[in-house]
Amino acid sequence: MSSWPTFNSISLKQKFHHLSLETLYKSLTIFALSICLFYILILYNEPFNQFEHKSPSSSDVTDSPTNISHIMFVLVGSTRTWKFRRPYIESWWRENITRGNIWLDFAPPQEFLPWPSTSPRFRVNEDMTKLKVYPKLVSPNDVRIYRSILETFKLRDNKDVRWYVMGDDDTVFFVDNLVEVLGKYDHTKYYYIGTNSESIKSNFDFSFEMGFGGGGYALSYGLVEALATRIDDCIERYPYFRVSDILSASCSADLGVDLTIEKGIHQIDLRGDISGLLSSHPGSPLLTLHHFDTVNSYLPLQGPQTNWSFSISWGYSAHIYESLFPRSFLKKPLETFRPWKDVRPPLYMFNTRWPPYVDPCGAPHQFFLETVSSGDGEEVVTSYTRSSARNFPPCSVNGNHSAGCHLQNSSVFAFN
Ligand SMILES: *[C@@H]1O[C@H](CO)[C@@H](O)[C@H](O)[C@H]1NC(C)=O
Ligand SMILES: *[C@@H]1O[C@H](CO)[C@@H](O)[C@H](O)[C@H]1NC(C)=O
Ligand SMILES: *[C@@H]1O[C@H](CO)[C@@H](O)[C@H](O)[C@H]1NC(C)=O
Ligand SMILES: *[C@@H]1O[C@H](CO)[C@@H](O)[C@H](O)[C@H]1NC(C)=O
Ligand SMILES: *[C@@H]1O[C@H](CO)[C@@H](O)[C@H](O)[C@H]1NC(C)=O
Repeated sequence: MSSWPTFNSISLKQKFHHLSLETLYKSLTIFALSICLFYILILYNEPFNQFEHKSPSSSDVTDSPTNISHIMFVLVGSTRTWKFRRPYIESWWRENITRGNIWLDFAPPQEFLPWPSTSPRFRVNEDMTKLKVYPKLVSPNDVRIYRSILETFKLRDNKDVRWYVMGDDDTVFFVDNLVEVLGKYDHTKYYYIGTNSESIKSNFDFSFEMGFGGGGYALSYGLVEALATRIDDCIERYPYFRVSDILSASCSADLGVDLTIEKGIHQIDLRGDISGLLSSHPGSPLLTLHHFDTVNSYLPLQGPQTNWSFSISWGYSAHIYESLFPRSFLKKPLETFRPWKDVRPPLYMFNTRWPPYVDPCGAPHQFFLETVSSGDGEEVVTSYTRSSARNFPPCSVNGNHSAGCHLQNSSVFAFN
């Protein structure tokens, strides 16, 4: 028998490892605090009380669970790209439910008016030429992007806000998962939550310690409140940055706050066929996608009558292998995609599998999402159809039960 567990049903709701995370955050907080002290004592000598954590301005400092109305989205686009990016935002934005604004560099022209109610409200960024540091800025547009946080805070629409979530106009958020994940953290403390890039080169060029803006990142209320009075000072310190994300990471780092990684955030600095990556996903909820607009997750199964392996990416694709593979193997993405830039390996921030072009036991049958429907009660049924024939003989170690002979479509039943 196989040595890994058989799944009779799939649970789409991911569970968190509270204990280990708690321990981690405790250590992180202690670490952040030591850095903070170091900074205060050695570098700045500012009065200590400026760094104290403050509670949100509203009366709501209760332990009530975090919900969608506690998140303020700070989406930054431009008038030039709006036409093409609007569908990305509207795919996840919920009218009258999600809170936030899309920040633009110029007022939208007549052709975009009246502004659709299905999009977030637009705001035009402040004129930065009035800033003393303006002539020194290497990339004023990136400073504009970062300052959108400050400008959002200054709107004073901060009642009950626990998180400021930054995104580009082509970032797709999975809002319910985001609510669930942010709910794990104490918004009154200082948190900077994001993920770096899949591409080693991008992280090397910018920073391994930076939450990439396209993937999106979240700042706790406590942190934004502390940053708000310091953002312009910080910009004066770093007029030479060419990217808003590195400015953000640096300004937070100067307050003693380092990046907390959440694996469900995806910058997607990849090109080509990313189905290999989409068919694997770390065991944490999918939070964002960037540079494309599909969804993925990862759930391995073992076939009941045959020794096949199933790697299901609900919302996107399913891979069926005619032999048994352990989860540790299946969770490595198939390297079907190309690097972001034409550079020499190592390329990615994760390990990959080469697509098995010759091995009938290792080459998956690929299925893609056809429909999602709700079954009885809590049941969710997703159906997949074959993309194309695999063009391999059956995998013989398993008695020649070719999936190709029997399977045209496959259905997955999932329970919450
Ligand atoms: C979110 O929680 C607050 C309490 O903190 C509550 O007043 C509000 O109605 C909730 N909103 C939603 C959309 O559930
Ligand atoms: C959103 O709120 C506005 C103003 O209250 C209302 O006219 C509109 O119908 C609402 N839209 C939805 C989808 O509920
Ligand atoms: C599956 O593999 C096990 C162990 O290798 C073997 O005993 C069993 O006969 C196989 N089942 C099928 C249907 O091939
Ligand atoms: C699978 O089929 C091949 C060719 O048809 C045959 O040589 C082989 O013995 C078969 N394997 C099993 C396990 O039945
Ligand atoms: C597979 O799904 C397609 C599209 O839903 C349907 O037209 C077709 O009849 C199905 N095939 C089988 C064998 O169930």
